[in-house]
Amino acid sequence: MQTPSEDAPLPYYEAPSPGEGALPARAWYADSDAARLSLNGSWSFRLAPTAAGTGEEFTREEAELSGWGEVTVPGHWVLQGHGAPAYTNVNYPFPLDPPRVPDENPTGDYRRVFDLPADWPAEGECLLRFEGVESCARVWLNGVELGNFQGSRLAHEFAVGGVLRREGNVLAVRVHQWSAGSYLEDQDMWWLPGIFREVSLWHRPPGAPADFFVHAGYDHVAGLGRLRVECDVPGRVLVPELGIELATGQEAAVPVEPWSAECPRLYEGELVTEGERLRLRIGFRSVGVEDGVFKANGRRVLFRGVNRHEFHPATGRAVDLETMRRDIVLMKQHNINAVRTSHYPPHPAFLDLCDELGLWVIDECDLETHGFTEVEWRRNPVDDARWTPALLDRAARMVERDKNHPSVVVWSLGNECGAGAGLSAMAQWIRERDPSRAVHYENDRDYPDSDFYSRMYAPHEEVELIGRREEEPLPDPRLDAHRRTLPFLLVEYAHAMGNGPGGLADYQRLFETYERCQGGFVWEWIDHGLPKRTPEGRDYYAYGGDFGEELHDGNFVCDGLLFPDRTPSPGLIEYKKVIEPVRLSGDPATGTLTVTNNHDFATTAHLAYAWAHHTDGALQATGTFDVPPLGPGESTTLTLKELTAPDTPGEHVWTLRALLAADTPWAAEGHEIAWTQLVATAEAGPAPTPAPAAPSRAAGVVRLGPAVFDAGTGALTTLGGLRLSQAPRLDVWRAPTDNDLGASWQQDTRFGVLWRELGLHRMHHRVDEVSVDESGLTVRARVAPAATDLALRTRYRWSATDGELRLHVTVTPEGDWRVPLPRLGLRLALPGAYGLASWYGGGPGEAYPDTAAASRLGRWELPVDRMQTPYVRPQENGARADVRWAELRDARGGGLRIAADSAPFWFTARRWTTEQLDAAEHTWELTPGEEVWVNIDHAQHGIGSQSCGPGPLPQYRLAAAPAEFSVVFTGLAGA
Ligand code: GAL
Repeated sequence: MQTPSEDAPLPYYEAPSPGEGALPARAWYADSDAARLSLNGSWSFRLAPTAAGTGEEFTREEAELSGWGEVTVPGHWVLQGHGAPAYTNVNYPFPLDPPRVPDENPTGDYRRVFDLPADWPAEGECLLRFEGVESCARVWLNGVELGNFQGSRLAHEFAVGGVLRREGNVLAVRVHQWSAGSYLEDQDMWWLPGIFREVSLWHRPPGAPADFFVHAGYDHVAGLGRLRVECDVPGRVLVPELGIELATGQEAAVPVEPWSAECPRLYEGELVTEGERLRLRIGFRSVGVEDGVFKANGRRVLFRGVNRHEFHPATGRAVDLETMRRDIVLMKQHNINAVRTSHYPPHPAFLDLCDELGLWVIDECDLETHGFTEVEWRRNPVDDARWTPALLDRAARMVERDKNHPSVVVWSLGNECGAGAGLSAMAQWIRERDPSRAVHYENDRDYPDSDFYSRMYAPHEEVELIGRREEEPLPDPRLDAHRRTLPFLLVEYAHAMGNGPGGLADYQRLFETYERCQGGFVWEWIDHGLPKRTPEGRDYYAYGGDFGEELHDGNFVCDGLLFPDRTPSPGLIEYKKVIEPVRLSGDPATGTLTVTNNHDFATTAHLAYAWAHHTDGALQATGTFDVPPLGPGESTTLTLKELTAPDTPGEHVWTLRALLAADTPWAAEGHEIAWTQLVATAEAGPAPTPAPAAPSRAAGVVRLGPAVFDAGTGALTTLGGLRLSQAPRLDVWRAPTDNDLGASWQQDTRFGVLWRELGLHRMHHRVDEVSVDESGLTVRARVAPAATDLALRTRYRWSATDGELRLHVTVTPEGDWRVPLPRLGLRLALPGAYGLASWYGGGPGEAYPDTAAASRLGRWELPVDRMQTPYVRPQENGARADVRWAELRDARGGGLRIAADSAPFWFTARRWTTEQLDAAEHTWELTPGEEVWVNIDHAQHGIGSQSCGPGPLPQYRLAAAPAEFSVVFTGLAGA
């Protein structure tokens, strides 16, 4: 093989150009009366290790296909048994030498033979359309080369009328995994080559439009919608519901209901031209930045957003319509109102669904060059004029395809490309082509091209400063002055990797306090775990490094609010609560309830309200109540007679809920939108204090009420009839979460790393004294890691009354503790038969100090096996907050009850130890053991978001400080 000389022309796949032969971009639309033919399905396929492939013989009709396999289009060959997926975040998995790519360039040849349907029209043009091919394709039809293209998540079309036949068409496509375009597609996700979106043939009848642009603004002062449809051929625009019948190019102004994400009012219309009638779905709305605030229809918008990659565990970025709808339905059900299509335009049908179901969309261009940060941004394509045509092509392919969606309110230039003139060129082109929307770009901190001051993972403190307009100035006063005029967006925040994100409620408070802070987009929607099976047949989700990659970024690809199978994680439940668009608050002392409508556009007329009253977790009564409809931003306070605390002793809890009053396209009547709980405690009169039991010693044991202790170690061995597998003792370790471990660039505060360095996962327990007096047993111990003089002096004081065993723990740190503790509490173990948990406290799901908004006080019951949260990389999980009592029982009802004495505790139960949880890298590595391990925690360290952003706020850190707490154990007799 010959090496090309330095100035030899580069092959098409290494050219930093948009490609050759494809038609200009145009709007996508779902329905028209022009014929279309889907070419999805099974295609012949073979994979070669280099771009040279195995020659071009396969493009000929009579080509010999022996040795070929089959793949499904749309799809990725690496998920269909050819080669393997690979995951990197920032790094390019090949040497940086733009626009050149390595010789190892997996190249897939695709072939499909098709006939036209019998009724396919003879007249007119035909377009062969590719919705998405990663990363570069070269196309032949009937042996004629049509051209080549790059731009993986963008549509490309070729005019094929001249070469198409009625029967026996041979479509051949060569796809290279790597191309110059790969330098523009360094998004943090799996590298997944292939034809991953539809291929289709569109008939273009004579007189059909090449393209059209629907302008549907809303004048909120006059209440008028203004409609004008631009089209390259003359035609008529019909909107029967509005009595509109209009020539293309003309404008109509009529009273309309505007479109918003909250009230996604669409009007059915048609564009009728000589050659084609096509369906329009028109949403009237106007957006833009006014007086430093991003507004829609004249009102400030608060984004309760999420970043969405296209992902399905079985099919990668080939996502079917049902899954797209499922994503949006889940978002709507969890109070999410906005989506950023990180970091590329999604399948166009997704945007149709956003129009229909109602989501604000930041449509982001298929562009990221993050890996150039590894070389101080040298040769960054966005700052190199040779690439500008490709950048402009990408911008145009996004804007032209998606311009008719009312849901799209912001164009984003791309993600993490640093700064450069190429970005400015894109922004300028977009602003000229579509001045009706805002433009966003985050990664150039001077924001020359952005209508938003946009940040990722900024800590609360910084967001607050920006909210107050007191941010640190930029060095250049002109740029600083410009930035001060911009509304603020957290385009990524709350990194949802593993357990977390923490601190959501604290961010939301800032968004709801400062007009300038217009909300944020959680990173990210779904874990990109890929299914795998161990040789023993155990299924699990794999992540970076599980496919033999040379470079990878591990489980950083699993950082979503959904697990890979789309079940909501606790993070999504928390987010739903934190962003609820209606707030309920009240006071049982006065019987008053305040309802605040935090929608930006919707009234509360779609809501109904219900209450329930529980005493100590037992249901007393339920009912409904009325709240007069509130306009956006309005609030009302009412008196509810049901909210009056009875005198009966106990903890009275009222749960007040706002529910959908009727079915919507995304949830049924009764679906919960918002809730609160109000608590009033009525003390019982003083009870007679039972006399404490006196301990007795016998043959190596101490007996105290229902308990037996080892006289030498002071360890509790038996309670009632229950033999403990491990006695309760002080415990501080937790299997570090991804957020505990933190990201590599956060050196000082990665407590998960510091804890292990300190040895908190291997504490030594030394018993210094076991003493028995007339009312109990005292054990003094020193709990400390090896190789340091830090310690936790611990005193366990046991006493008993009436069959109950009380433990009071006092902890006094020794030495200079510079790190917080992971947890502070007790660990004990019971035989595995005691596997049914019930508790009165927070639930039903897990909670930690800064992820506890969605934890509801109630009586809950779950098998221990179902108390686990299956994070793709196992880590601390499953704690229940604010627990008043917890029980673990066997099938006959016998077991152990643990009741809070001083303050509620955190309750965790699992069939493996913390050490086993810590050691596991994948879920299959966790196998239930012989015991049920129980943690009863006085305190937990917060969760934060440090796997990419800030750690827990100071108020959620668990300082190593003197502490005391107590609990009461009772043995439960079974049947
Ligand atoms: C951001 C980036 C995302 C993702 C995230 C961390 O910097 O824009 O694509 O990598 O960090 O998961």
